[in-house]
Amino acid sequence: MSNKPSWSKNDQGKPRIDAHTKAKHKVIETYIENFICTLYGKGRKGITDFTIVDGFCGGGDYLDSESGSWRGSPTRIIEAVRSGYERASRNYNLDIEYIFIDEQKNHIDYLKSISLPSHGLEKLACTGSEVTQIGDFGSLTESLTFYEQEFEKIAQDIILPSWNDKRFYFFLLDPCGWTDVTMNTIRQINSHKKSEILFTYMIDSIRRFGLTKQRDILDRTFEAQGYFSEKFKDYEVEHEQQYFRNEIIRLFRDKGKAKFVFTFALISDSISKLAQKPIKRDSNRVLYYLIHLSNHERAVEVMKESFSREKNLIYQYYFEVYGYAFRSSEFYQRDQLDLRLDNINVDDNDFCVGILAKQIVNSKLIDDKGILYGDLRRLTVEKNPSLKNHYELLICQLRDEGEIEILRKNKFGKYQITTARQKYKKDDIVQRRRKYQTNLFFKSKFGI
Ligand SMILES: C[S@@+](CC[C@H](N)C(=O)[O-])C[C@H]1O[C@@H](n2cnc3c(N)ncnc32)[C@H](O)[C@@H]1O
Repeated sequence: MSNKPSWSKNDQGKPRIDAHTKAKHKVIETYIENFICTLYGKGRKGITDFTIVDGFCGGGDYLDSESGSWRGSPTRIIEAVRSGYERASRNYNLDIEYIFIDEQKNHIDYLKSISLPSHGLEKLACTGSEVTQIGDFGSLTESLTFYEQEFEKIAQDIILPSWNDKRFYFFLLDPCGWTDVTMNTIRQINSHKKSEILFTYMIDSIRRFGLTKQRDILDRTFEAQGYFSEKFKDYEVEHEQQYFRNEIIRLFRDKGKAKFVFTFALISDSISKLAQKPIKRDSNRVLYYLIHLSNHERAVEVMKESFSREKNLIYQYYFEVYGYAFRSSEFYQRDQLDLRLDNINVDDNDFCVGILAKQIVNSKLIDDKGILYGDLRRLTVEKNPSLKNHYELLICQLRDEGEIEILRKNKFGKYQITTARQKYKKDDIVQRRRKYQTNLFFKSKFGI
């Protein structure tokens, strides 16, 4: 697929899909299904109102040399929402508003009149219509609005001014280039607590912008003065990529005001494992990054859980792609510079507990004064591939080794050492075991 895919209703033309876009679609649909299932399904009554924006939606369908055709992000989003709703099986209603934006009229026309109807979604494709499914549980009501305009304009003129704090907003931003989304818009979206962004970009386009006279466009759009300033020509390709990735994450944290940033690298394998004739690729270059911006650690956890359960390494070989594993800026910077992505199997408990142990020891978060278990997870969640059970395994292990102790409030509100081996609570205190009470005046920060 070229950088600029094109759909035309008249000659039924649609672009050819490539391996990376397929992998990207898998990430998107798996995440959205889990995102809906988790937020709508949580607690006694989860979140019931969502707005899902596909800011660069395209025409919907692709040509695929393996299976004939391949669905694009709009239908995948709708189907993932429906699966998440069914999996959650709750008996209250779910309300979903889809907003699909593309600046090309041809693409929206193709999506409305060819792609959506061919997947049984013709009712939703009629602008203004609402579709309600009444299932075995609460009903699902969906509405869909199309905009044939630039994402920035719709975001600034329509979405941001009418933001409704009762709804949860998810943005898929999958532009063709760099200039189509501004940091100002990203920051405004992130300023709302109930929002998430999944942003995709091709590393080469930043390199090009960074290296050429167009640098000022990058600076203007992304407020990137002071970033990407290293003389990266001296680096090996892989170091260059790492440098770019880390700078991007730094930029999204600082200027985009994203509290949690999580990335997926989509890297072409040097030799495709499945292709009949092995395709030589130019080294292990990262082509795409998917970057997930959120305000809550739970979102990062859903991200990690989504792909550990799905055993993402299957995709790795299937799509001639490896390594959209779970990395964050610090994780890469501190621990991972020379660890190849294809060495990582997130099902590997030892690996995940090991990474976590190293991180927690280095960070000195567990000291004599103690830290809340919830804070321990919140402060480290982005920086490792570890899931909840890995945290529990590590805490248990450190406790068994006599390194730490865990204190839990009893029903009288007093903290007591607990012997629980799992299901730690957010307000449990994890502290280094005080072998000897050497200082009579010592007081923990929890007053115990
Ligand atoms: C990479 S394609 C999107 C593919 C789609 N997300 C998918 O996964 O099937 C990018 C789309 O964004 C549209 N586009 C480019 N610049 C845009 C802008 N500034 N605002 C809205 N759409 C734009 C293009 O017309 C193209 O259809």
